[in-house]
Amino acid sequence: MKVLVLGGGGMLASDLVAVLSETHDCYGATINEVDITDLNSINAGLDRYRPEVVVNCAAYTQVDKAETDRETALLVNGIGVQNLGLACNARQMPLCHISTDYVFDGLKDSPYTPFDCPKPVNFYGESKLAGEKYLQWAAKRFYIIRTSWLYGHHGPNFVKTILRLASNSSELRVVDDQRGSPTWTVSLSYGIKAVIESGKPGIYHITDETDGTLTWYGFASEIVRQAGLNSRVIPISTSEYPTPAKRPRYSVLDMSSTCLSTGFKPVKWQEALERYVVKFPSKSLALTTEQR
Ligand SMILES: NC(=O)c1ccc[n+]([C@@H]2O[C@H](COP(=O)([O-])OP(=O)(O)OC[C@H]3O[C@@H](n4cnc5c(N)ncnc54)[C@H](OP(=O)(O)O)[C@@H]3O)[C@@H](O)[C@H]2O)c1
Repeated sequence: MKVLVLGGGGMLASDLVAVLSETHDCYGATINEVDITDLNSINAGLDRYRPEVVVNCAAYTQVDKAETDRETALLVNGIGVQNLGLACNARQMPLCHISTDYVFDGLKDSPYTPFDCPKPVNFYGESKLAGEKYLQWAAKRFYIIRTSWLYGHHGPNFVKTILRLASNSSELRVVDDQRGSPTWTVSLSYGIKAVIESGKPGIYHITDETDGTLTWYGFASEIVRQAGLNSRVIPISTSEYPTPAKRPRYSVLDMSSTCLSTGFKPVKWQEALERYVVKFPSKSLALTTEQR
């Protein structure tokens, strides 16, 4: 398959292009090549690369800044996705779009399924939900893939932050009342591959596998342990670490329909983290064949 990945300079896109290139003809276009807020730029890009499927990793991802920079967040995450949906639909080409757990309000106590009703608690989530809706109105053939708590080699992320802080300080205070699922960009890339190869349009949930009780504190503790650092991790509440954007207190995503529909097998979060932190700290691809 000929695949065009947009937002090619980003954290997820960098690993996705590497994973898809193992078996497909894949190109990652940066914002300088295709700007999703500009329909002319999209049309020129699609005519130039002539893909059979487009994967959109381009996004405005600064969750806190989105609270005050609402226009840009909506332009990229909402209107940009509408533009892509229209351009792909006109060419009868499927669009695979990456969305987020932050479309949910976090008031559930069991994993969110693709059939649960989104209700974001921050503007980033609002703008990503707008993108999902615009895409469903603009295009007939779409895959929406929601994921959460991403980390990878090619961008700033929670794991890198914890490793840096733990190397320089004897104590770390980390929020212990927000639950979710970390996701390595490489494991997600194999999930995206399974979805686009399935040819079955719909809404999918893909993360690394947790038991649903993991918090940022638990995640940080495991990062410090696996890296062999001595820093003490102290649990705190969200109220002790206020941020401009509210976060859902629970955003675990249910993957059963993704697995049933595509055959994708999620990786356990500790195993993915180990490959990232310990075994292959400077490489992006590290899953064995049976884990893909
Ligand atoms: N990171 C997470 O924890 C997380 C969690 C759940 C879901 N997601 C979703 O996963 C996807 C990938 O996230 P990521 O962490 O890989 O993001 P990222 O590293 O911030 O990459 C996003 C890319 O999009 C580019 N971009 C911004 N505006 C654009 C435009 N108008 N046209 C084309 N490209 C544009 C950015 O370029 P510049 O850098 O030059 O602006 C950047 O290269 C996003 O849809 C995000 O919402 C992420």
